This record gives sequence, structure tokens and C-alpha cells, in this order.
Amino acid sequence: MPRIKSPQLLVAESGTDREGHGLRRTMGLFQLICFGVGAIVGTGIFVGLSDSVAQAGPAVVVSFVLAAVTCVFTAFAFAELGGAIPVSGSSYSFAYAGLGESTAFLVGWCLLLEYGVSVSAVAVGWSQYVNELLDSLLGLRLPDALSAGPGDGGVVNLPAVIVIALAAVLLVRGVRESARATAAMAVLKLAVLVAFCAIGFTAFQDGNLTPFSPAGLGGIGAGTTAAFFSYIGFDAITTAGEEAKNPRRDIPVAILVCIGLVTLLYCAVALAAIGAIGGDRVGGRPAALSHVVDEVTGSGVGGGVIAFGAVVAIASVVLAVMYGQTRILMSMSRDGLIPRVFEKVSPRTATPVAGTLIVAVVFAVPAAFASLDSVVNLCTIGTLAVMAVVNVAVLALRRREPGLARTFRVPLYPVTPLLGVGFCLYLMYETGGTTWIQFAAFLAAGLLVYVLYGRRNSRLTAAGAPVTPDAAERAPSAV
Ligand code: ALA
Repeated sequence: MPRIKSPQLLVAESGTDREGHGLRRTMGLFQLICFGVGAIVGTGIFVGLSDSVAQAGPAVVVSFVLAAVTCVFTAFAFAELGGAIPVSGSSYSFAYAGLGESTAFLVGWCLLLEYGVSVSAVAVGWSQYVNELLDSLLGLRLPDALSAGPGDGGVVNLPAVIVIALAAVLLVRGVRESARATAAMAVLKLAVLVAFCAIGFTAFQDGNLTPFSPAGLGGIGAGTTAAFFSYIGFDAITTAGEEAKNPRRDIPVAILVCIGLVTLLYCAVALAAIGAIGGDRVGGRPAALSHVVDEVTGSGVGGGVIAFGAVVAIASVVLAVMYGQTRILMSMSRDGLIPRVFEKVSPRTATPVAGTLIVAVVFAVPAAFASLDSVVNLCTIGTLAVMAVVNVAVLALRRREPGLARTFRVPLYPVTPLLGVGFCLYLMYETGGTTWIQFAAFLAAGLLVYVLYGRRNSRLTAAGAPVTPDAAERAPSAV
């Protein structure tokens, strides 16, 4: 019999650690949307656009739409589950309620790829733009030895470590400060991308969009997998379930608004860039957006402004994604599946201080030494696997808990979650054999950790009742 945790128990157990110290509900709809934009828009559009264009050419807009469709199906699933089970664990908690403990553990394990490894990857992308900004402001760059890991021809990537340390300090100080910082950064980066579109479209030439799809359907498929990275993070909104003022209403709305907003933005940015200078000159070029603006305006100032926007945008992704990682680990720790240090909330700052610092230190290591390419595919396949499971969790919970209060229901059920699974599997397939092998090894390691630690220390009995008496007492009152 699977070890299932009921949605009611998940909600009842949320909010406080075992000593009664809880997170504060401070986030309204606007803050949640800013938090989502903060988690989504970053390395993918500023750095990864040139890779997607190299694969798909001007048809990259089709790739963006296909990646968005995958996300929209899954966003519906997140919206239904996030509205019904507003706790911090995101897909991990949803899998616990829908599919049982071992699946939930593996989902939590994969979330280390989506959140933890992407913190490292995004920080590496940040480092590239810091150099671009220094170049346009002061005409100097950090030496390669200090701004890239060994995989990229350097020794240690110091800026990547620094941005992770800064994000950890903000998160330790408290969500009120970090939400405010995230909101400011989200607005700024949207403004920079809109300004980019305005500049790019002044030089728009139809001819630059032909041939529209130089590499055909294969190119569009590969471009879709590359473009998907720029959507990763929208589900981070569900990790704020315990800090949102009105999670059941605001979380579904915030997810759908974010996904729509960034899709429009990405398509507009891609069209503006390619329309201005042509797909061949965007594809594969580092800091492509700065380059487009430099060419269109004929000066380096505009490119510097874009580089500044990228530095801010990518820093806010690090902040939001690291926040999500700490909240997921908190949920897993609360369930006994990983050590308790991750669930401890400081009474002074009302944040999980120890967990945040551990996350920062652990993921600063790959940030210091890994190359961007080496982690992006693994991050993508892990995220897609999680999303497929979330769609399956919607199906499972509809059967198991038909009476559960749902503020949002996926439309066209069960077609939508089934299509969500199909799209995720297709994009996983597109990541290629090497990534699959790495992913299988990662999952095998996760299974080992679960069998040797998680299962033995789980606070749930096989019958689905909480092991801890305090949780058992709280559970019925919240139903
Ligand atoms: N979607 C995030 C980014 O583009 C991971 O940086």
C-alpha cells in the first residue's frame, strides 16, 4: 500500500516547525506575480535565446509557443493543486498527496535539479553578464581565471559565488525584504525587455524572417527543448503557499498570469531581435540582446543598459529559485525524509536560516566550477519529469479526493493533464541519450537515499497516519 499523505494533513502540518515557529503570510497577488516573474525571466531569455535561435532560426517563436503550451498544461495542474493544497512543498507535496511517499521523495530529489542545480546554472549566466556590464561601464573585464569555472577555461567563477551569497543574505533577512527586492527587480527587468523590443522593432525588416524555419521540424523541436529552460521557475509560486495572504485564490491566478505574460514577452523579444539583425547574427552569439541594441543604435550605451537589465534579472532568478529550494527542503524535512535542520525556522527572522545557508554553500560549489551547458540539460529533464508527475497527481487526486475544495479546476479534464504528460515526455525525449543516462543515475542515487534514510525516518506510517502525535492532533481540526 502506498504511503499517502492526505491534503488535509499536509495543510494542517504546514505553517510552523516542530517548535511552533512559523512563516508569515505577507505576499499578495502582485507580490506573487513579481515573485513568479522573478523566478522565470533570466538566463533563458538573456543567454539562452541565442541557442534556441541557432537551432530553430526565426521559427524560434514556434518553439517558444510549444514550450509555453507544455507549461500551460502543467500550469493548469499546478494551479489546481496549488489552490487545493497551499503548502510550501510545491510538486513534492502534491506528489505526496496524489501518488505516495516514494514518488514524492523522487520528485523532491528531481527538484534539486530544477531549483538547486539551476541556482548554480543561473549564477554562472549572471557572471557572464557582469563581465559584459563592467566592459561597457568601465572598459574592463574580470580575468577568465576568476570569472569562469574550469569547464569554461577559467579556475573559479567568483561572481557566481557572490550572487548566491547575496541571495542567501536577503533570504535569511526575511521574505518581506526579499519579496520587496524581488518585486523591484521583476519590474525593472520587464521594463528592460520592453525597451529592448521597442528599440529592436524600429529596425525591423520582414526579410530577416526568411527562411522562417531553416532547420525544419527537427530544428523547431530542438529549439523547443532549449526554449523550455526560459520557462523553468513558474511553479516556484506554489512554494510560497505558506507565505501568501490568500493562497487558494492568488496562487492559481498568479501562475497563469505569469505564464501568459512571459510568453508574450519572449515571442516579442525573439521577433525584435531577429527582425532587427537576422537569425544568423543572433544565433549562438553571447550576450545577443546587448549586441542587437548596439547594432541598432550604433553605440555601446544601449547594450550596457541591457547588460545591466540582465544582471538584475538573473540575480532575481537566483533569489527566487533559491527561496523555492529552501521551502521544498523544509517540507521534506518536516516529513522526516531529510534531516531536521532544513525545517528549522528562526524565531528572530521567521526564515529557515540554517537550511538557506546549507543550500547556498552546497550549490555555490557547482556555480564556482561548472560550465553552463553541463547543467542546463540535466536541469531541463529533471524539471520536465517533475511536471509530468504533477499532471499525473491531478488525475490521482481527482480520483482519491473528489470532494476536496478546489479553487481552480483544470479545463477539459482529463484531456489537459494527459496532454501535459505527453508534452513533457516529448521534450524529455528531445534532451538526448547522454542526458537520459545522467538522469537515470541521478534517480538511482535518489532511490538509494530514500531506502537508506528517508523511508526509515519518515514521520508517516504505512497506513497514512502521521507518526508524530502533534501532527495527528492538528490534522482533524483543519479538515
Ligand atoms: N527560467 C529561468 C531562467 O531563464 C531558469 O533563468
